[in-house]
Amino acid sequence: MKIEDNKPLDDLNTFGLKVSAQYFAEVNSVEEFRELMEMEIYKTNKKLILGGGSNILFTDCVKGLVVKNSIKGISILSETETEVILKANAGEVWHEFVLWCIERNYAGIENLSLIPGLVGAAPMQNIGAYGVEIKDVFQELEAINMESGEIVKFVLSDCEFGYRESVFKNKCKGKFFIASVTFKLTKLSSPKAIYQFKTDYGDIKNILSDMRAYELSIKAVSDAVIQIRNSKLPNPKELGNAGSFFKNPTISKEQFDKLVLQYPIMPSYPSAEKSGMKQITQLPNVPIAYKIPAGWLIEQCGWKGKVVGNTGSHKSQALVLVNYGNANGKEIWNLALEIQKSVREKFGIEIMPEVNVV
Ligand code: FAD
Ligand code: EPU
Repeated sequence: MKIEDNKPLDDLNTFGLKVSAQYFAEVNSVEEFRELMEMEIYKTNKKLILGGGSNILFTDCVKGLVVKNSIKGISILSETETEVILKANAGEVWHEFVLWCIERNYAGIENLSLIPGLVGAAPMQNIGAYGVEIKDVFQELEAINMESGEIVKFVLSDCEFGYRESVFKNKCKGKFFIASVTFKLTKLSSPKAIYQFKTDYGDIKNILSDMRAYELSIKAVSDAVIQIRNSKLPNPKELGNAGSFFKNPTISKEQFDKLVLQYPIMPSYPSAEKSGMKQITQLPNVPIAYKIPAGWLIEQCGWKGKVVGNTGSHKSQALVLVNYGNANGKEIWNLALEIQKSVREKFGIEIMPEVNVV
């Protein structure tokens, strides 16, 4: 096992920040991770697992050991006439896995096309986009207890998935290395398969009709999602960013009723979740809370498109903070704190980071 000292992480974080790791190791298998666990450098240092670095803000160089997950492999565990159970190892690139499924006509994750990062990080925040979250197709995952080396299985209920939340961001934070994730997808090649395409979110239907997708397919939905994403979100290869910097906040019905009198155009979505953690599938008849797009709140505070030194809020999506080239992590974090403060002062709403700040 090769351990590198002062390893630059510039290409391993999508903000493009120039930082390094005190110690760095790349693991290609569960066995290699266990081998690493036996080493003194592992036992005596703080550890950070790194996937694609697309949801991380490094505010400084990393003290301790960064473990880059590169465990590859996709396998079919079982299948029926209409469903397939697939296991993807943590180091697979998420979008490549999505495309692999689309090629085989396995449906369920096409709305999650083009989300950067690796499979292993997907359960961390229950990645979601365009009306789908991974919890919708999640079967189980295997993780290594980073203290004992024991392999532990987590089924859906163990993961405590919520909006951009899971047990791995909360009580299990820093305790498990996610090694593989198993999904249950629908085999569209089967005439008996029953599948509901998810095309209600945003502009998907309009784009599909512009694309003249006469026959609805998972490839068409994926292409529509890719088109929308490319029109709104900056490509990290061209402009450093980590997607939405903040989560969309949920406010109580009482607070919503007061704010909407002041801001009648405020966009909102009825929410069944009071906090990010509680998973309720059925919306009550009367919403108990409302989700407000953080992008709107930030735009209303005047931040959209504003450049502050080497950083700023993106011109097409206020929720995305960007690195114009020479920003450091502290600068981006300071901007985030300023934005958070102004939203609090104007609306009395606390917006919380989605990005993992280290
Ligand atoms: P990293 O950034 O490397 O890690 C994220 C966190 O997970 C860190 O705390 C890390 O320590 C931990 N971690 C990583 N791998 C493991 C593992 N194997 N075991 C244990 N812990 C681990 N997210 C969405 O949900 N929806 C979107 O639509 C979306 N759009 C985005 C668009 C852009 C342009 C960008 C840059 C990001 C976007 N994101 C989105 C955020 C990001 O892509 C996801 O959160 C993704 O899952 C992060 O994967 P990663 O491998 O890059 O994780
Ligand atoms: N809006 C503005 N100004 C802006 C941006 C957004 O007013 O600058 C308002 C508009 O009313 C718009 C609404 O916000 O209709 C929603 O915007 P959008 O559809 O772009 O989605 P979002 O809520 O900003 C969320 C996720 C994205 C995900 C998309 C699509 C969060 C924090 N972000 O963004 O995820 O791709 O929906 O599902 O939930 C990420 O997590 O990194 C990410 C990019």
